Amino acid sequence: MDNRELIKMALENKKNAYVPYSGYHVSAVIETDDGKIYTGVNIEIASYSPTLCAERTAIFKAVSEGSTKVKKIVVVGDSDWTYPCGVCRQVIREFGKDAIIIIAKDEDNYREYTLDELLPHSFGPEELDNAKGDNI
Ligand code: THU
Repeated sequence: MDNRELIKMALENKKNAYVPYSGYHVSAVIETDDGKIYTGVNIEIASYSPTLCAERTAIFKAVSEGSTKVKKIVVVGDSDWTYPCGVCRQVIREFGKDAIIIIAKDEDNYREYTLDELLPHSFGPEELDNAKGDNI
């Protein structure tokens, strides 16, 4: 899908963020390699730590429906530029090593990154593959 359409979708869905504590809305839209689109918003919980970021909501929705390869992820939030937190960068590493990450203000103003730019020298599944057998 076209970047502008994905950004529009993310902006429209931002209203669904459940943010009674921070008041800070974040919305993500992902496109998976099988051409499916998943949305996600941040969801806050009164005891705080179970709070889930928008990026992970979208990615976990995709994975739980059988789509495990993120091709593109768009993030919008209440700041001009809302960048994925460290935990979400690691989750993108798991399911979208080659993903394009789009941080958008609106359809006409967005920045594109590779995961390697946002999470250089990362640790990922291949490390564990290489170690397979050593711990048995
Ligand atoms: N948040 C996200 O949804 N994604 C990020 O990558 C950064 C932070 C949310 C979590 C929390 O609900 C609110 O923003 C304030 O931290």
